[in-house]
Amino acid sequence: MKVLFVSSEAYPLVKTGGLGDVAGALPAALRDVGVDARILLPAYPDAMGRATLTGRSVALGDPLGVGECRLLEGSMPDTGCPLWLLDCPPMYERSGDPYMITPGNDWPDNFKRFALLAKVAAMIGAAGDLMDWRPNVIHAHDWQTGLVPAYLKAWSVRRPPVLFTIHNLHYMGIFGQEILGMVGLPQNQFSIEGLEYHGLVSMLKAGIQYSQAVSTVSPSYAREIQTPYEGQGLDGLLRQRGEKLRGILNGIDMAAWDPLTDPHLAAPIDPANPEPGKAANKASLKRQMGLDGNGSTPLFGLVSRFVEQKGIDLVLGAINRLVGEGAQLAILGSGDRHLEYELNLAASRHPGRVGIHVGYDERLSHLIQAGSDFLLVPSRFEPCGLTQLYALRYGTAPVVRRTGGLADSVRSVDEDPEGTGVVFDHAFIDAVEWAVGRAVALFHDPDTMARVRRAAMAQDFSWKRSAQEYLKVYTDLMTAG
Ligand code: ADP
Ligand code: GLC
Repeated sequence: MKVLFVSSEAYPLVKTGGLGDVAGALPAALRDVGVDARILLPAYPDAMGRATLTGRSVALGDPLGVGECRLLEGSMPDTGCPLWLLDCPPMYERSGDPYMITPGNDWPDNFKRFALLAKVAAMIGAAGDLMDWRPNVIHAHDWQTGLVPAYLKAWSVRRPPVLFTIHNLHYMGIFGQEILGMVGLPQNQFSIEGLEYHGLVSMLKAGIQYSQAVSTVSPSYAREIQTPYEGQGLDGLLRQRGEKLRGILNGIDMAAWDPLTDPHLAAPIDPANPEPGKAANKASLKRQMGLDGNGSTPLFGLVSRFVEQKGIDLVLGAINRLVGEGAQLAILGSGDRHLEYELNLAASRHPGRVGIHVGYDERLSHLIQAGSDFLLVPSRFEPCGLTQLYALRYGTAPVVRRTGGLADSVRSVDEDPEGTGVVFDHAFIDAVEWAVGRAVALFHDPDTMARVRRAAMAQDFSWKRSAQEYLKVYTDLMTAG
């Protein structure tokens, strides 16, 4: 089984969020179950710098009229998974965030940059002689790769089938109708049965509409997006895909997130006896975040993009209560300017109680997972969510809203003797306040807290199970007529 894995990010080459984690780890897990998975990724400067390149390349000409393209052959630096970097300097030779020119501002030519990625993936799939390797299935991810099946459809090439995975329905890849001609797609795709979305082009919709199978990253989110409330106007289409819309829960990279060997931690955390390691990491985290007091203060962590999805405004609303309960908060993230501003303000109002680091910091993200007692994830919606999975592995109890993958991965201490965290239902400030109070009460009950920690650390979110499920989808696609 040969699978081409097309993504706009893959850790450790380039990552802005969970998609990067998934595209870094899942292909390697697929290889472990016998799939010949290979990754196709744009050759951003960071990716070129970090990948292991063989020096071999294949010239592709100028498929989209935006510059000469080459595929650079290589492998991932950590897992060794085979990799092709799509080199097209006018499109990808830009450092920093892969999508934005400055925070909050997308590159104006993103439609070309990601149409090119999709077109080259389709070319690799359609032309057996291009690479001496032709995938049986193309696995495409999110709007950036939504045009892969649109090209195959336009060329009347039925093979290879495409599995399109939705990691987030809210990023729809919306552009004007005029882009169709510029990216070489026929105008007849611009219809309700095609990639039209309210008079505009949606690359995400193209992926849903034209691929042979659609999946998303948790069973609950698969159900939620089929409702008008969560469906972004695509719920009707998603309902039509019915049986074909699967929710496969993400796993975590067990090597990159191993509490016994993680180089970013102040001390290892031993699942058989977590307390000493947790205490050492908590002390180190508190020092680094300028938090006062000792280990007897309950500490909440927050590692997140600062966007509406993540319920950051709810955290802001609940901060006074959190501090009033005698707790502390360590925040890492970046995103919307006004949320960064408000969070900074909250930290300055509660010196020694609320610490914040604005920016992207892989090391600190690991330390927060290791050193906190609780991880706050009050998302409005969450397709899967990875931070709560890392928290569980590091003996940190997640405090989550019951939605999407959070509902599928955290067991409520109030409903389950094997509970692993605090679960609340509504995206309201008082619900977050309740959950914070519940967590603080847990903290002051050391026996229960130790039981929750053990239950959390005993969960298995390795990729193995999900890789098997994907293999089954690929096999079904290959055998379907
Ligand atoms: P999403 O993809 O919606 O942002 P996930 O929970 O699936 O949410 O994945 C987020 C990933 O990004 C996790 O690996 C998390 O640790 C990481 N992350 C988020 N913000 C930061 C940050 N500021 N610094 C380092 N890592 C971050
Ligand atoms: C998206 C979602 C997140 C998910 C990640 C990886 O970024 O917001 O919930 O975990 O993709 O699938």
